[in-house]
Amino acid sequence: MIPFIDLAAQQVRLKPRIDAAIQKVLAHGFYVMGPEVGAFEEQLAEFGRARFALSCGNGTDALALPLMAWGIGAGDAVFCPSFTFAATPEVVPWTGATPVFVDILPDTYNLDPDHLEAAIEAVKAKGELRPAAVIAVDLFGQPADYPRLSQICRRHGLKLIADSAQGFGCTLYGEHPTFWADAVTTSFFPAKPLGGYGDGGAVLTDDPALWERMDSLRVHGKLVKSDLGGHPLQHDPKYLNQRIGMNSRLDTLQAAILIEKLGVFAEEIEARQDVAQRYAEGLKGHVYATPKVIEGGRSVWAQYVIEHHDRDGLAAHLKALGVPTAVYYPVPMHRQAPYAGFPVGPGGLPVSETKAGRVLALPMHAYLTEDVQDFIIEGVRGYNGSAEAEAA
Ligand SMILES: Cc1ncc(COP(=O)(O)O)c(C=O)c1O
Repeated sequence: MIPFIDLAAQQVRLKPRIDAAIQKVLAHGFYVMGPEVGAFEEQLAEFGRARFALSCGNGTDALALPLMAWGIGAGDAVFCPSFTFAATPEVVPWTGATPVFVDILPDTYNLDPDHLEAAIEAVKAKGELRPAAVIAVDLFGQPADYPRLSQICRRHGLKLIADSAQGFGCTLYGEHPTFWADAVTTSFFPAKPLGGYGDGGAVLTDDPALWERMDSLRVHGKLVKSDLGGHPLQHDPKYLNQRIGMNSRLDTLQAAILIEKLGVFAEEIEARQDVAQRYAEGLKGHVYATPKVIEGGRSVWAQYVIEHHDRDGLAAHLKALGVPTAVYYPVPMHRQAPYAGFPVGPGGLPVSETKAGRVLALPMHAYLTEDVQDFIIEGVRGYNGSAEAEAA
């Protein structure tokens, strides 16, 4: 079987550096919040063009931290897509707030700004919930329409989170999502474009007050500088708990590994462009849709997702050839039992529902060779035969 994401190929390249970084941590022994954590945060902030990066335990906690820091809770509405991974809406009820599901654009799979605005208006008109925040997702690696989304958020006084778990490193007109969003979150789950060897996550922001509040929340609501009000500190701030927080830290070992991976990340993003381009050329006219990137956008291609009318048939055909595929996501979140009771925007979510039945992700990573990729392309082309039949 061809690997869906070839982590081993990357490891061959980085092994000596990663081994040395791990040995260094084992030698100094600061396994939690060791020096590599701060160093990685600095480098990550620089890469994502933010003033601050705060690492944490995973990409799900990264979404919860800004919501908690802003005091979002019962009675608040947080707007987000339904066509996403569970973590995006999941963190909203954690805080007591209500997720309101918004549809996506049919070409980019990212939040539809017009439907977002309609959903905000509908929530306001109903008067039961207070619109508080939007979580946009950089699905499959490409940036959401941040210029429009941030304009809508400003107009309605809402906070904007960019869930860039799949899209960290993506840009729009050369800017990272940090340019528009109040907080940008990401995940270092191994399969992500910037993945570690375990769980991890981070929040990037330009806002020092938000950074400090999240720094407190990730360590059980520990006392931070602004809590002191100029008074001298008399105890270890770790044991002076100012708010209800959590334990969500990036392991020092993961930070040390991620420093090495960040060092080649820009190059890997570049290599992913070539892979995406080759897929687009090879598959054009042979499937219902190949990915479209927003104008001015650059995707990091976390996934290469095509659409096909006989998605399941194609997946079985490819599997028989030794080509793995994946379906992100077969059931949109608003159709899943724990989320079915939450509100959806006016007119429902027809695009999310249609896409769920058609999308199929092909193997995608920075180390995919042309030979292997050509084999995959031939496999897809060999299934449906004629472009007209698939376009019909
Ligand atoms: C869009 C999206 N948001 C959030 C997450 C959560 O990240 P993690 O698995 O690190 O908690 C993921 C990935 O798993 C994701 O794909």
